Amino acid sequence: MRVLVTGGAGYIGSHACQRLLRDGHTVVALDSLYRGHREPMDLLAAQFPERFSFVHADIGDAQAVRSAVDGADLDTVMHFGAVAYVGESVEDPIWYYRNNIGSAVTMLGALDQARDGRGVDRIIFSSSCATYGDPPEGMIPVPETCPQHPTSPYGRTKLHFEHILLDYAEMRARAGRPLALTMLRYFNVAGCDRSGLLGEDHTPETHLIPVAIQAARGKRPGMSIFGTDYPTPDGTCVRDYVHVEDLIDAHVRAAERVPPGAREAFNVGIGEGYSVRQILDSVRRVTGRDFEVTESGRRAGDAIALYNDPSKIRRELGWSPEVTDIDEVVSTAWSWFEKHPDGYKS
Ligand SMILES: NC(=O)c1ccc[n+]([C@@H]2O[C@H](COP(=O)([O-])OP(=O)(O)OC[C@H]3O[C@@H](n4cnc5c(N)ncnc54)[C@H](O)[C@@H]3O)[C@@H](O)[C@H]2O)c1
Repeated sequence: MRVLVTGGAGYIGSHACQRLLRDGHTVVALDSLYRGHREPMDLLAAQFPERFSFVHADIGDAQAVRSAVDGADLDTVMHFGAVAYVGESVEDPIWYYRNNIGSAVTMLGALDQARDGRGVDRIIFSSSCATYGDPPEGMIPVPETCPQHPTSPYGRTKLHFEHILLDYAEMRARAGRPLALTMLRYFNVAGCDRSGLLGEDHTPETHLIPVAIQAARGKRPGMSIFGTDYPTPDGTCVRDYVHVEDLIDAHVRAAERVPPGAREAFNVGIGEGYSVRQILDSVRRVTGRDFEVTESGRRAGDAIALYNDPSKIRRELGWSPEVTDIDEVVSTAWSWFEKHPDGYKS
């Protein structure tokens, strides 16, 4: 495959680039570096000089997107480029809609016109379990058929872009240019590349495992649990943590198995939920360190419990996670932080 990876300098996108390159594919990563890092791009360029290139551009720059696709005759797009904090989206919904919808629609127009109007053959979109909001009773574990009622602007940007992609795929089918469309609704993505090259370095960091690791390392004075009165066994929110390399494996399988004309949505999560307190216990076990935890009120937009029903992805893509032990997930993140105490250099 010849793949455009938008958001390729980000946490998940960089892991996708690495896996695709290791599998022998050609990759162009396109990222505005609004939140991503140049260092992983340089590392991958040094390892795979023949088949990897990085374009510093925004997905809302139609010219840049089109010339990236035409320049390397790319046939597949993995679209990770987005802003992705629930809390920030509540504070600044307009930015979320402008970036995750407005710029993404501009990108879609450019992708459609590329390759002399043939467009790309495949699109795989990073959607989210945040599109489900709080699933109704009987819908946890969450199947793909769960009603989608997101509780945050972030979740709504993901759901709206799913609809936009479905409309686009319908147009392509009518025009006799069938698109293979996959929407992957990730649960919580965690851990780092097991070879130790790539990591997770967000500013600000809001993801639970890296935040707890920073607290364990003394990089922050402590951390908060947001909400301890949820109707869950220990009162804290429950989430499904999928290892980043397993998540990327789902993308590769989707690219290989979803045929032209198909429009599929798959949840990607291991099928087991861990509470915030269970994750903090795991970080204490793996790091051998204790840290200060404050109990705060609930955070706007957070769902109570979300974990996946992996039946569909198992059945249709033959996907199952390699890493299912939460301590193993945490230790892949811990190893990267041990080697990169201040994160990426650039
Ligand atoms: N991390 C998770 O647990 C999780 C869960 C569900 C869905 N997702 C989705 O996965 C994708 C990747 O998430 P991540 O955790 O790697 O985030 P990230 O912030 O590390 O990576 C996103 C990348 O996209 C880039 N980007 C943002 N807007 C852009 C634009 N307009 N043009 C070009 N580049 C742009 C950023 O600079 C960044 O490098 C996102 O779409 C996110 O919504 C992530």
